[in-house]
Amino acid sequence: MERAEEIGLLQELLGLKERKALFLDEHTTTNLVGDYISETRFESERAGIFAAHPVMLAHGSELDGPNSFLRSNLHGRPMLLLRGDDGQARVFLNVCRHRGTRLVDADAGCQRRFSCPYHA
Ligand code: FES
Repeated sequence: MERAEEIGLLQELLGLKERKALFLDEHTTTNLVGDYISETRFESERAGIFAAHPVMLAHGSELDGPNSFLRSNLHGRPMLLLRGDDGQARVFLNVCRHRGTRLVDADAGCQRRFSCPYHA
């Protein structure tokens, strides 16, 4: 935002105080309470907004060396973030392909290999 625009908005807000008014617009709208607690709306917004665009799961510095890992969660899916020997960061589902057991329970650490705790 440009400095002049910021100053203009602040002047408008100060004008509200002087007029003892609550709103900049002459018209107000309301949102139904149901919009805030609707599972359907929540899922729709999660799919339409968050699942449709890249999401930052961690800062690169959080994987601070080869074989470092972080456990995370993305829209309810367990994720495992790793930095390989080659320095490349990668993301996997933190789920065994055999029967879906969670592979890593620790929040973070340094480990070169992972094996499933259920059937190894
Ligand atoms: S569930 Fe992981 S090896 Fe079977």
